[in-house]
Amino acid sequence: MKKIGIIGAGHVGLVTGACFAKLENSVICVDNDKEKIKKLKNGVVPFYEPGLQDIVRKQLKNKRLFFSDSIDDLVESSEIIFICVGTPSSADGRADLSYVEQASVQIARALNKIKKFSSKKNNYKLIVEKSTVPVLTGEWVKRTIEVIAPTGIDFDVAANPEFLREGSAIKDFFEPDRIVVGVENERTKKIFNEIYKPIDAPIIFTDVKSAEIIKHASNSFLAMKISYINAISQICEKVGADVEMIAEGMGADSRIGRSFLKAGIGYGGSCFPKDVKAFISIAAELGYDFDLLKDVEKINTQQKNIVIKKAREFLWNLKDKEIGVLGLAFKPETDDIRESPSLEIIKLFLNEGCIVKCYDPKAMENTKKFLPGLYYGGDAYDVARGSHLLILATEWEEFKKLNFDRIMKLMRMPYIIDGRNFLDLKKLKKSGFICCGIGKKME
Ligand code: UGA
Repeated sequence: MKKIGIIGAGHVGLVTGACFAKLENSVICVDNDKEKIKKLKNGVVPFYEPGLQDIVRKQLKNKRLFFSDSIDDLVESSEIIFICVGTPSSADGRADLSYVEQASVQIARALNKIKKFSSKKNNYKLIVEKSTVPVLTGEWVKRTIEVIAPTGIDFDVAANPEFLREGSAIKDFFEPDRIVVGVENERTKKIFNEIYKPIDAPIIFTDVKSAEIIKHASNSFLAMKISYINAISQICEKVGADVEMIAEGMGADSRIGRSFLKAGIGYGGSCFPKDVKAFISIAAELGYDFDLLKDVEKINTQQKNIVIKKAREFLWNLKDKEIGVLGLAFKPETDDIRESPSLEIIKLFLNEGCIVKCYDPKAMENTKKFLPGLYYGGDAYDVARGSHLLILATEWEEFKKLNFDRIMKLMRMPYIIDGRNFLDLKKLKKSGFICCGIGKKME
């Protein structure tokens, strides 16, 4: 059993903390949002992640998981401190590392207090970056603590980037493909071997800088795969080929692989858009012009404009047309709408003078805060009623099970754009729809 502290109770921090508690460690999670901490103390998780609330409640009851707003308490009681604070995009695309700096300063100040008042001899701390950060952040964290904390404080800095996906975060924690850990010495390596012992996955030990780059390089590579297949989807549309068959054919080559070759309206979320930008930015700072990734971004933006183009091909004039949008979250099984392609598309339709109606099983409340003027339907049928065009923007399983004969009767015009190549277009055609996906023939 280890004593673990988590700074930042967001998606990464909370999942990491709850899962380490489930592995029988004693975990304290700190966040400066007092409201959030109050909710969490009562077992209420402020976002939707399948299975997370159960684990949080159980571990609170087992007294292995604690929530606090005091970093001093966390530093005092933890041997391993994970920094899981946000690293959002700045206006110029760089990662804004001010929260990481703040956490480092707070850790250093708390270490000062411990040094002053504690009689304990062994006050070793391992400080771990878990948030996605640009290369060289670890050096800054170390320097910040060294400058503020007095000599004699025994600590190491390590990087342990997180690869969990929203919607399957718990599974990704317990069954990862690999665990990446950047360390400076054997002592740190030993601690990571202990805390990850219950997890059956290879641990790849590197230096800290390499671990930092592995995270940015992995997310950017996956974003590149998506933009690559989306570029292919455009060629498909020009000649009437089928991008899904192409992804199948390419993906069967084990060197390429089938995953992340789903063409559609592009990638979104709190990670890929931000990380691609941050990687381009740190590369530029280091003197490398990452043109390849700039094109990845460009293709991703184009995918949204394509939906408007397709809508125009169906509806002629867009002004005053009623557009029903199914799905708001950036992907299914989450209520997260950050950088969601669906919201980008909605904004484009609103700019064209359309009336937008929408429905999502989980992400409506979050969307209402940003787009209060939309019509929020009670279900997909409600949104379809009177619509000229229906757009599937997030591939929630429940949308596959819809009664499209009923939807056909409710709609004003029979058009569907499947932005995720998720629906059975041939079946829809039989119900009387005129429909298209992305990179496929119109049905
Ligand atoms: C991503 C990575 O997959 C995780 O490994 C990583 O830990 C995480 O970012 C992070 O950095 O924290 P996540 O953003 O939760 O995870 O979601 P993904 O499942 O990767 O999907 C990202 C976006 O790509 C979604 O909008 C999804 O719809 C889109 N996508 C995905 C496609 O358009 N096509 C695909 O084939 C796959």
